[in-house]
Amino acid sequence: MPPRHLITFADLSSAEFRALIRRAIELKHLKGLYEPLKNKVLGMLFEKSSTRTRISFEAGMAQFGGSAIFLSPRDTQLGRGEPIEDSARVISRMVDGIMLRTHTHRTVEIFAKHSRVPVINGLTDRFHPCQLLADIQTYFEHRGDIAGRTVAWIGDGNNMCQSYIEAAELLDFKLSIACPEGYEPESALLEKAGARVELLRDPADAVRGADLIVTDVWASMGQEEEQATRESAFRGYQVNANLMALAAKDALFMHCLPAHRGEEVSAEVLEGPQSVVWDEAENRLHSQKALLEFLLAEESPVRAASLSS
Ligand code: CP
Ligand code: NVA
Repeated sequence: MPPRHLITFADLSSAEFRALIRRAIELKHLKGLYEPLKNKVLGMLFEKSSTRTRISFEAGMAQFGGSAIFLSPRDTQLGRGEPIEDSARVISRMVDGIMLRTHTHRTVEIFAKHSRVPVINGLTDRFHPCQLLADIQTYFEHRGDIAGRTVAWIGDGNNMCQSYIEAAELLDFKLSIACPEGYEPESALLEKAGARVELLRDPADAVRGADLIVTDVWASMGQEEEQATRESAFRGYQVNANLMALAAKDALFMHCLPAHRGEEVSAEVLEGPQSVVWDEAENRLHSQKALLEFLLAEESPVRAASLSS
């Protein structure tokens, strides 16, 4: 049987997504030694920088009794042109799982196709599913189930936005996206999502009455040279106190981080009482431990639940 992967949310059922969130919350509060990945090894290949993703996966593996190897194109043969297909075949004969952060999404797809072991998408140009696991866990912890709620996405129709679109379908929430012309998410994803996801221009329209406000940087990794153009395109898309005032009274604010205060979010909102960004960052660890257990451990409560349902 081919291994299970998490490349996009097309790889998870609704029930599995929910079970992962429940398990992440359980693991967060678990006391004592629990080592379901004893002696297992996770390979982590990073083509781009990372603080949260690297540390949470590495710490998660260590806490579970296993270990992680940090790999970069600079110091592997991948950087000298060894084909992805060959690298996937070789690396996956030596480790138990592989996490990749790559420029193009296609790289992760090709890697997974040739891997003997589970592959996890740690961010590509198109999706960032691991961050969504943490965001949804954070929403559940602060406000309960997200089904039926409204999320407002303000800014770039980027990898984070696109994972929100996929999550909206699986978890049954409404997503109102406000982005400037030319910065929309892929139209195929919008079409697939149907009426659940709406595309607007005015951030005020998206935020009005929303339960969760989310934004991200205006220029993602790899788009640094577009910074100036994007700053002018996204003027008016800052999440600040005026915008937050239009949301539901108990609305939360999230940002995957790193954040640029004074650009996509004001310092006041980022540090304010509605912001849960530090819990959100911490939950990368807990939700990915649930994911690692699901994909790599001999036994997983999430797998057991999805088999019996
Ligand atoms: N949010 C996130 O993925 O952070 P890093 O780039 O630090 O991993
Ligand atoms: N959209 C951002 C997310 C960083 C975690 C980027 O791709 O750089």
